[in-house]
Amino acid sequence: MEKIVKLCSFDELVDGNGKLFFVDKEEIVVFREGNKLLAFSNVCPHNHAHKMFKGLLKNSQITCPIHHYTYCAITGFPKNSAVGVLKTYKVLLQNNEVLVKIDPSNFNFKF
Ligand code: FES
Repeated sequence: MEKIVKLCSFDELVDGNGKLFFVDKEEIVVFREGNKLLAFSNVCPHNHAHKMFKGLLKNSQITCPIHHYTYCAITGFPKNSAVGVLKTYKVLLQNNEVLVKIDPSNFNFKF
């Protein structure tokens, strides 16, 4: 069953920086890109490093700091098709609060 969880206030997010949240067994990274919010898993599909919160975000593309694979932060699809898809989340802004929708049926697939 999906659920919506409050993570923080919009003001707590620094433009261009990732912030890591632990919700149940999920590690969720939220990036602020201007007024846009992006949310995805902290676990990189390549080698499963828990470091996506340290990634570099540019034009809604997130680059893992470990081996520099890049994924679309909206869809999770990789630029290099040899790696899996990064899990992404729907993120909402409501009354200055950042909310994320967690859907356990939203499994990623591997190529
Ligand atoms: S662990 Fe992220 S690119 Fe290798």
